[in-house]
Amino acid sequence: MKVTVVGAGAVGASCAEYIAIKDFASEVVLLDIKEGYAEGKAMDLMQTASLNGFDTKIVGSTNDYSKTANSDICVITSGIPRKPGMTREELIGINAGIVKTVSSSLIQHSPDTIIIVVSNPMDTMTYLVHETTNIPKSRIIGMGGALDSARFKYRLAEALGCPISDVDGMVIGGHSDKGMVPLIDKATRNGVPVSEFINEDKKDYVVQETKVGGATLTGLLGTSAWYAPGAAVSGLVQAIACDQKKMFPCSTLLDGEYGLSGLCIGVPVILGKNGIEKIVEISLTDAEKTKMQESAEGVKATNGLLA
Ligand code: LAC
Repeated sequence: MKVTVVGAGAVGASCAEYIAIKDFASEVVLLDIKEGYAEGKAMDLMQTASLNGFDTKIVGSTNDYSKTANSDICVITSGIPRKPGMTREELIGINAGIVKTVSSSLIQHSPDTIIIVVSNPMDTMTYLVHETTNIPKSRIIGMGGALDSARFKYRLAEALGCPISDVDGMVIGGHSDKGMVPLIDKATRNGVPVSEFINEDKKDYVVQETKVGGATLTGLLGTSAWYAPGAAVSGLVQAIACDQKKMFPCSTLLDGEYGLSGLCIGVPVILGKNGIEKIVEISLTDAEKTKMQESAEGVKATNGLLA
């Protein structure tokens, strides 16, 4: 199993690190345009191998796509990250050009690869990868919902005063501060709806803090977060590499599912060796459907900014 991660910044390096630590891939290629940077990160990570006990080989490359040839999975993290006060949508001008070039270069060297898109605005960049590469929709996956759901579980556990392993929940919709749809009324603690434990005010707090999860971290760090995004990507990569048939909310091209089409947006999918093996249509309440519809309008408006 060969995995390429494009972009050796904080998010890309975290992806490579978590993938290597889980030790299911034979090779991870880390690629960046900055001279020597990916080579340096790869060498530093390889020097953790004996300490962390993994055998995955991590190779760095300065923009040499021939090194990525025949990758089973490619992760695109390249582009500029958010600065405090910025929305993900504001990154579109620069990142669209980068994602276009990167995705076509990847497909040239790995025509059968599965692509995971992390660059922001993520749902629009996932749509752009479809337009650029024309590969089957099952092989293009936007990473947002897995991260947003992890942040949701963090906030749920905080509000309930319980361990994170006690709670379960999912965030669907667009990966944006306004567009996320945390499914609070479907969230549970050990199978029991969370409304048995917390009141409406606390539920609203959890939803609000989840939606601005990335912005809160950007304010604290001065740039966008990397540990949770890296861990979320590694979860998706592992589900595909190990054919786990695991369910994650991911951004995918919809064709009538959830009453939506012609855009990529976060919905539950099953991930296995073929990429997105199924889009799962769960029943939504009228309030959830309305939020999903509004979220889709937001994503479509951002897609409209593509040149
Ligand atoms: C975040 C970026 C990865 O939410 O979108 O941290």
